[in-house]
Amino acid sequence: MGEKVKLAPSILNADFSNLGSAIKAVEPYSDFIHLDVMDGHFVPNITFGPMVVRAVRAMTSVPLDCHLMIYNPPEWVETFAEAGADRLAFHVRACRDVESVIQAIRALDVSPGLALSPEVPLFELKPFLGMVDFVVVMCVYPGFGGQQLMPEMLNRVGAIKREAEETGTDVEVEVDGGVKTDNLSEVIKAGADTIVVGSSIFGSRDISSAAAEIKASLTNPSESDLHAVEDTPGA
Ligand code: DX5
Ligand code: ZN
Repeated sequence: MGEKVKLAPSILNADFSNLGSAIKAVEPYSDFIHLDVMDGHFVPNITFGPMVVRAVRAMTSVPLDCHLMIYNPPEWVETFAEAGADRLAFHVRACRDVESVIQAIRALDVSPGLALSPEVPLFELKPFLGMVDFVVVMCVYPGFGGQQLMPEMLNRVGAIKREAEETGTDVEVEVDGGVKTDNLSEVIKAGADTIVVGSSIFGSRDISSAAAEIKASLTNPSESDLHAVEDTPGA
């Protein structure tokens, strides 16, 4: 904590017939644009691939945070780097040689990350903690936006940070899935460095103000605490 928490809107639930304007609406409040790449095998859904990443790259200068939910990431990291990803996370169980994929991503001058699904135990991440720049702690089962955050996953944030510290490294943690205004303060308290917010922004009638509101509570947490107190009946 201490530093400002970064906001990465996920376009998964955006209006793809008007993606350009959806991105423009959130751009001023975004530290990253989060792009969920799904292959229909690793997760039970198919979204988009490098062509869309490239199109998003052309419409914004906001750094692109690509979350690969695909098998065989080694075959794809170069394509996504060329398409314009600034950071690339893949899942611990998506391939055999995790370490060489991390190295390949770094060699492409892209920031490497590892994502952890709720059913994957923390110890599977441990051997790679000193190698990645960030870890994506998933608080929903990957595949779809608009699910409920699993609060027990938030303990992983601190556990990962402590583990990294003990081994003399430093790692950023991104919390992905189910984050919305009413659980934002818990996610921040858990120690997230970046939060991904999908449906809570892109499912809103006013996308821009939804993003602005979340960004404001990240920039000025004391103000959001104040609202929390105001919202508490009898406070
Ligand atoms: C889920 C994706 C998430 C999702 C977040 O598989 O990785 O990034 O888009 O969307 P919300 O905020 O709606 O849970
Ligand atoms: Zn994601």
